[in-house]
Amino acid sequence: MTIADKTILVTGANRGIGQALVTEALRRGAKRVYAGTRRPLTHPDGRVTPLVLDVTDAAQIRAAADRVGSLDILVNNAGIALYDDLSDRAALERHLAVNLFGTYGVTQAFLPMLTRSRGVIVNNLSLMALAPVPLTPAYSISKAAAFNLTQSLRALLADRGVRVHAVLTGPTDTEMTRGLDIPKASPPSVARAIFDAVDAGEEDIFPDPLSASMAGSWRDSAAKALERQNAALVAA
Ligand SMILES: NC(=O)c1ccc[n+]([C@@H]2O[C@H](COP(=O)([O-])OP(=O)(O)OC[C@H]3O[C@@H](n4cnc5c(N)ncnc54)[C@H](OP(=O)(O)O)[C@@H]3O)[C@@H](O)[C@H]2O)c1
Repeated sequence: MTIADKTILVTGANRGIGQALVTEALRRGAKRVYAGTRRPLTHPDGRVTPLVLDVTDAAQIRAAADRVGSLDILVNNAGIALYDDLSDRAALERHLAVNLFGTYGVTQAFLPMLTRSRGVIVNNLSLMALAPVPLTPAYSISKAAAFNLTQSLRALLADRGVRVHAVLTGPTDTEMTRGLDIPKASPPSVARAIFDAVDAGEEDIFPDPLSASMAGSWRDSAAKALERQNAALVAA
């Protein structure tokens, strides 16, 4: 799978990593890029089709799927991250609504198209899917759940020829990490690394220096071996 001549949808496309993914897809020669955003967007490149798409809004998801018609690559990138301490159930529900059920809802709506194209799903998760940062526990829980969703979809969709990638992103310099005084990767470098890894068929993607330092040990881990062993149950 290369991005050239493909049709791709990116959610949360107006800023941060999503915006960088749109730019990078265009640079790689994508045929059409659907940019899902909560507010109407204009884009100078004629290959970009803006879509109003709040991933928590079932009617907007349906309308977007009706408009798109055919799709090769879905990038579930939209996400929220708020500080909390698990004392407020509503904070957990808000994170799950966007980061888990948003990803789930958009994926289900576009699955028929992705099945027809034998396409690709890319879920932008977080390193916090593997280990929580207790300053953002609700966010971490939502990303862990979305990672598990990604792993199950990977196993369930393999025989339909749909590839499902998890992106275990580390700190990246966007609005989400504003105020955090730590080393951060640039959104363009993360977008390049994500598409390079999709091209290379790497199912788990570590697109920045911090996450990349863990890639080898993850691939050789007991958890990864168990994922493969459990996935074989689907085929059986
Ligand atoms: N930055 C990091 O260090 C980092 C690390 C690991 C993972 N990630 C993940 O990368 C993804 C992109 O984050 P970012 O760093 O680029 O953050 P960002 O700059 O805060 O962008 C978040 C994007 O998600 C959109 N969004 C939020 N809620 C939405 C909803 N209900 N429906 C549709 N779109 C929605 C936002 O749209 P609005 O402009 O309308 O709010 C915005 O476009 C997220 O899934 C995030 O969890 C980021």
